[in-house]
Amino acid sequence: MSNRTLSIDDRIYGYLCDVAVDEPDLLRQLREETAQLEYSEMQISPEQGQFMSLLIKLMDVKRAIEIGTFTGYSSICVARAMPKDGKLICCDISPQWTDIAERYWALAKLQEKIDLYLQPAEKTLQMLLDNGAENSFDFVFIDADKQSYVMYYEMALRLLRKGGIIAVDNTLWSGAVADPNNTEPGTRAIRRFNEMLKQDNRVTKSLLTIGDGLTLVLKEFD
Ligand SMILES: C[S@@+](CC[C@H](N)C(=O)[O-])C[C@H]1O[C@@H](n2cnc3c(N)ncnc32)[C@H](O)[C@@H]1O
Repeated sequence: MSNRTLSIDDRIYGYLCDVAVDEPDLLRQLREETAQLEYSEMQISPEQGQFMSLLIKLMDVKRAIEIGTFTGYSSICVARAMPKDGKLICCDISPQWTDIAERYWALAKLQEKIDLYLQPAEKTLQMLLDNGAENSFDFVFIDADKQSYVMYYEMALRLLRKGGIIAVDNTLWSGAVADPNNTEPGTRAIRRFNEMLKQDNRVTKSLLTIGDGLTLVLKEFD
């Protein structure tokens, strides 16, 4: 027994996947196809995807935003857990990667639930704000360029309803954030985000040690 978070070695991770990960075939195919690509490590892990599906169901999410879609794994985990009339707005700038996502959305029969905006996410979030969508979303997943995390977070907070959740990916950044000698731009950006969030008394938050670190933030004001 331990009263601190376990270090997950390969043996424990294998056990976790064996007994607790229930990945649908289509998601496994997408993961295997993505594994052939450069940057495949950008995809969330199966256990994180499963957790996100559960969270979406627990919250009865009907309106969601994903910032950073890549080949579609996390978007499918979110969209498949939403009701029939649910809507997920996906933000990305890569037609090459999102072509794969669109192919899998069709196979999963999720096209009706997903709208993809191929332009910088800042532009899409601003468009939603300009169209009066403030305080209307249940869930936002932030998983794009790390330098923009603080900006995405502020825009997401405005778009979120009271009681909505922002999930922020990679907040442990493979552990690099804890190494004071690591000053790589991505590491500094994630540190900047984590330090900003620590000071943000408007919200309730928790950093989960799942995947590469997933921080959940609850908005408790209108
Ligand atoms: C870490 S990947 C997302 C992984 C995805 N959530 C998954 O689990 O498969 C980051 C994505 O952000 C996209 N991206 C980078 N800069 C962006 C920007 N300014 N606006 C929107 N998307 C951006 C990249 O094209 C890439 O597909």
